[in-house]
Amino acid sequence: MQQNKDIMILGIESSCDETSAAVILNGRKVLSNIISSQISLHQKYGGVVPEIASRRHVELIVPVIDEAVEKAGVKLKELDAIGVTYGPGLVGALLVGLSAAKGLSFALNKPLIGVHHIEGHIAANYLQYEELEPPFMCLVASGGHSHIVFVEGYNKFEILGQTRDDAAGEAFDKIARAIGLGYPGGPLIDKSAVNGNPKAINFPRVHFEGGSLDFSFSGLKTAVLNYLNILSQKGEKVNIEDVSASFQQAVVDVLVKNTITAAKNKRVKKIALAGGVASNSCLRRQMKEKAQENGIDVMFPSPILCTDNAAMIACAAYYGYINGVASDLSLNAVPGLRLGER
Ligand code: KG4
Ligand code: ZN
Repeated sequence: MQQNKDIMILGIESSCDETSAAVILNGRKVLSNIISSQISLHQKYGGVVPEIASRRHVELIVPVIDEAVEKAGVKLKELDAIGVTYGPGLVGALLVGLSAAKGLSFALNKPLIGVHHIEGHIAANYLQYEELEPPFMCLVASGGHSHIVFVEGYNKFEILGQTRDDAAGEAFDKIARAIGLGYPGGPLIDKSAVNGNPKAINFPRVHFEGGSLDFSFSGLKTAVLNYLNILSQKGEKVNIEDVSASFQQAVVDVLVKNTITAAKNKRVKKIALAGGVASNSCLRRQMKEKAQENGIDVMFPSPILCTDNAAMIACAAYYGYINGVASDLSLNAVPGLRLGER
């Protein structure tokens, strides 16, 4: 599609515990990105409670969309399309954003574009780096996903590796709970690890045979839990900072090694990080160091664009829109949607 006028997209995201709406201009300029986090609501349960998340999305979705449109200084009728996450995620949570998007699309007679949540995370890099274009390798690591994605084009993806059990962020959250740090665990372990020794405990790093770039974090999680149990049985004190640093190092080693191998295999010189875990300071540092040794550049979005937000969804929707991708009003939430599926 020839682009000869400004294109304004409203994005809506409600797949987990953030209610978010954003307006972006021509795919790259964020005019507003309103994120209402429910973290404090779920904290006392140590994780996201799906029913509570859905109810809160219902309360927040309209005010959050209103605020995004107002802050962007646009009128609803000036929007060109509505982009919305329709999977993967919690079905009840997804349905809230999707219903709002369908309602707006119908009422305003504007195209609806269903967006895969991971495509959104990848697109966050386009918002951070105006010049960035595919192809590049992307490590998407969040609470629900750990994928190595070869981004061949704006709408063309190849998954080169993924977790066979827990996602990286999920592992961070579970271990943080086990050592009493709280929820969400990633940022708390990141902070606690700063004063710990990453070599104090040699936790396992899983690599699969036959060149597979898949991940597995459940054995690591069990190893940390066993370590904690043994100390508790002996009545010995746990050094939380050392456990944090050693666990984090084990996760980061595998994420970095597999991502660099993927980039080398595909001969790409750019690696982008995406998803909540992309905020991890150890991951950012180590990925940069190892990539540099191989002449590869590393990019990562600012923390606000790493965690769930609607600007990244609007950005992914833009690249769908200009390439003629559109959904109709029968679009449904697909909790287990696979990348590249429509
Ligand atoms: O992308 P996101 O906001 O939501 C999902 O799509 O899952 O990611 C949230 C995940 C949580 O598991 C959280 O603990 C993790 O990202 N996370 C981190 C850090 N900040 C957030 N993990 C490691 N280090 C961090 N600094
Ligand atoms: Zn996410």
